[in-house]
Amino acid sequence: MKYRQLGRDGPSVSAISMGRGSQAIRFDDAPMVEAFNATIRRAWELGINFFDSSDAYWGTRHEVLLGRAIKGFRDQVLISSKFGNIDLPDGRKATNGRPEYVFQCCDASLKRMDVDVIDVYYLHRVDPAVPIEETVGAMARLIDQGKIRHIGLCEAGAATLRRAHRAHPIAALQTEYSLWFREVERDILPACRELGIAYVAYAPLGRGLLTGRIKTVDDLPPNDRRRRHPRFQPENLARNVKLVEALEAVARGQGVTAAQLALAWMLAQGEDIVPIPGTSHVKNVELNAAAADIRLSPESVARLSEIFAIGAGAGKRYNERLLQGMGL
Ligand SMILES: NC(=O)c1ccc[n+]([C@@H]2O[C@H](COP(=O)([O-])OP(=O)(O)OC[C@H]3O[C@@H](n4cnc5c(N)ncnc54)[C@H](OP(=O)(O)O)[C@@H]3O)[C@@H](O)[C@H]2O)c1
Repeated sequence: MKYRQLGRDGPSVSAISMGRGSQAIRFDDAPMVEAFNATIRRAWELGINFFDSSDAYWGTRHEVLLGRAIKGFRDQVLISSKFGNIDLPDGRKATNGRPEYVFQCCDASLKRMDVDVIDVYYLHRVDPAVPIEETVGAMARLIDQGKIRHIGLCEAGAATLRRAHRAHPIAALQTEYSLWFREVERDILPACRELGIAYVAYAPLGRGLLTGRIKTVDDLPPNDRRRRHPRFQPENLARNVKLVEALEAVARGQGVTAAQLALAWMLAQGEDIVPIPGTSHVKNVELNAAAADIRLSPESVARLSEIFAIGAGAGKRYNERLLQGMGL
């Protein structure tokens, strides 16, 4: 495994780090819990040392399961969690960046994960009703209290990121980035670079699209959330699959999988990019970890950038309502 520094003063994290995984797990589903533990353990064995979580994942169960899964090697890995992206009972979303809520959520996450400190604590969505300085100020107090080590934001706009960074150094921005979604190269990625903030790339496999495994909507489980995402709607998906076929052709030529090639392209975009692919399968953990060692020629990188030029993909990554809460 190769390692990259998270921000100017942050820790060294694996170039390929680890997302939450695609299938929500119940505590009483012993085989699934066992499979989850196996992915985390295998990742650690392969040198992956940065594991993503949030109090919004799997109804908070992900934090509990991750905390349990890393018990034997907690001191050798870094964990992140997030707060402030709230699923309301009626299905709507809410945000909360108020200081008292920050303190309350952090204590709850520490307890669920059964750890003394969270290595990177992210604001999951910017709360437009609370000045970012107040939220980040509260997060900085958590550092003083020894409850978190580094501060991150998710899906923030460049102006907010600058203000936040003035209030307290931000180690990482976690926002979507992949061959399929490159709009961030226009503004937020340059802002991160100017400020020395690492870019933790979520959905680096385009939510599975870039693996080549999804050719039609029928390839998605019946109640899968992606069925509601614009880019997975039948017409858009058909256009996106054409792009992925080109990716698969390049991958075949290099003797790697489409997913590995997509990750290798991401790593070639800069030392400050840390993709966090999510998987529920040990085999895919292994394939993803191996992508850190793929050397792409400048011609291959350019070829992929050309196939997946900004605007080449069809359909937005979220619906309009959710997009309104991003880039704030
Ligand atoms: N901050 C935020 O707002 C935010 C939002 C979304 C996600 N995230 C984080 O980012 C992580 C990654 O995003 P994501 O999981 O949505 O999307 P992703 O990583 O782009 O894609 C995940 C999908 O790819 C499949 N996959 C993974 N590795 C593969 C491989 N080597 N070969 C074939 N298929 C593979 C997975 O299926 P299998 O399980 O079958 O391998 C899963 O269906 C999440 O897990 C989460 O931690 C953050």
